[in-house]
Amino acid sequence: MDAFVIRGGRKLSGRLTINGSKNASLPLMAAALMTHQPVTLRGVPRLADIANMRRLLAELGCSDSETTDADGRSILTLRTADDSNSHARYDIVRTMRASICVLGPLLARRGHARVSMPGGCSIGDRPVDLHLRGMEALGADITLESGDIIARAPATGRLRGARIFLGGPFGPTVLGTSNVMCAASLADGVTIIESAACEPEVVDVANLLNAMGARIRGAGTPRIVIEGVKELHGADHEVIPDRIEAGTYMMAAAITNGRLVLDNCPIDCLLAAVDRLEHMGVHIKVLGDTAATIANGSVKDRMHATVEVSRDRTLRPVQVTTQPHPGFPTDLQAQLMALLCVAQGNSVVTETIYTQRFLHVAELSRMGAQLFRQGSTVVVSGVPELVGAPVMASDLRASASLVLAGLAAKGTTTVLRVYHLDRGYEKMEVSLKALGADIERVDDRELPGLPLATAGAASDAA
Ligand code: EPZ
Repeated sequence: MDAFVIRGGRKLSGRLTINGSKNASLPLMAAALMTHQPVTLRGVPRLADIANMRRLLAELGCSDSETTDADGRSILTLRTADDSNSHARYDIVRTMRASICVLGPLLARRGHARVSMPGGCSIGDRPVDLHLRGMEALGADITLESGDIIARAPATGRLRGARIFLGGPFGPTVLGTSNVMCAASLADGVTIIESAACEPEVVDVANLLNAMGARIRGAGTPRIVIEGVKELHGADHEVIPDRIEAGTYMMAAAITNGRLVLDNCPIDCLLAAVDRLEHMGVHIKVLGDTAATIANGSVKDRMHATVEVSRDRTLRPVQVTTQPHPGFPTDLQAQLMALLCVAQGNSVVTETIYTQRFLHVAELSRMGAQLFRQGSTVVVSGVPELVGAPVMASDLRASASLVLAGLAAKGTTTVLRVYHLDRGYEKMEVSLKALGADIERVDDRELPGLPLATAGAASDAA
């Protein structure tokens, strides 16, 4: 298995372009199951999860071809030609929970779907009851057979519009909202989703569906109204940039006391993260912003901004609570915690979306961090310096947090099991190296004196 060896203490500096969003691309790709015409997605990141989704879609009769644009970004054209297999098998679903987002498209287009029920996950319980409740409200019959969700549309073959409440105990569901939105797009009549997730990835899915001929209003607000149509057609769509990747690199600049310029940065959907970082003494400047562009600039500009990140000499502690969008994203909690470890004073981090998402706490402690966890809250007492150590990545964002800590730490940090990281960050070590980090990818069997990372961790952060 691959590991990263990081010799910390180097300031990052330079320029980096943010890739397309993983969490938008996965449901966008699944939407290609809803038409036989080609759906082209521009800027799909080259990640392990995307490869898994391509494999799943191929099994479901949707093949793809990949080309590259002038900037080297991937253009994926998906075309569904064969509707005969609607079974998303356990083998693939267990490697990637986001496989659940084929449920709505399959059910709406083919009138039936069989999707393996996603199991446990390293970041906590992740039920799919809200997805199923949404499909049932649209008239689907849902049963469970041998660990598979079996969903069938009513005898007419078509789902029917309904009013659906998608709020759960930890807020609205992001993939559940996209799933129900897809299903309702081809339903008979009007669907109103109440307590819909407002995440930018949901807006991106709505934008693709509308480009395919759907009639969706209100995406990005808690109420989404969908007028069902009989058919969807192909479309050509640009994937939004990855806000979590952008936030992670902002924190990488800050933790190394460096200065980075990020191109294609979706600053418009990072407001809570920017707010917390600025309170800490991190400066995030949108380049080219003038009073006129601030007043007149379009949202589109602010989804593809160029920002410069630098920081004060000392970092201040902050309180942060994860929340659904536009609150502080759970997917940046671990990375922010790494940064807070080197702030001057006590910070408080509360996780409200996945209350068990703290696997990075014990590993950061191995690097000298002073962390005290009680339930879903961690008090972080800043230390002057982290120290390098062998640490184990356990899920995607925890891995990113350990890499950030390693970049700042004194000495050498070895992050084991970086396959988690490869699920969400495109060649992170290559990007970091180009920005001045001393980091290399090695096979963990080459590492002297370290326990071999054991195989088979089926944890999954998508
Ligand atoms: C998406 O997962 C993201 N994944 C996650 O990113 C992200 O952490 C999460 O949204 C929250 O922002 C993708 O988009 C592929 P949810 P999703 O349904 O949609 C509970 C990463 O690191 N819930 O919005 O599966 C759930 O347990 C990953 O990139 C129910 O109770 O998350 C959680 O507490 C990890 N019942 C909360 O709602 C349900 O049916 C929000 O989950 C569904 C969810």
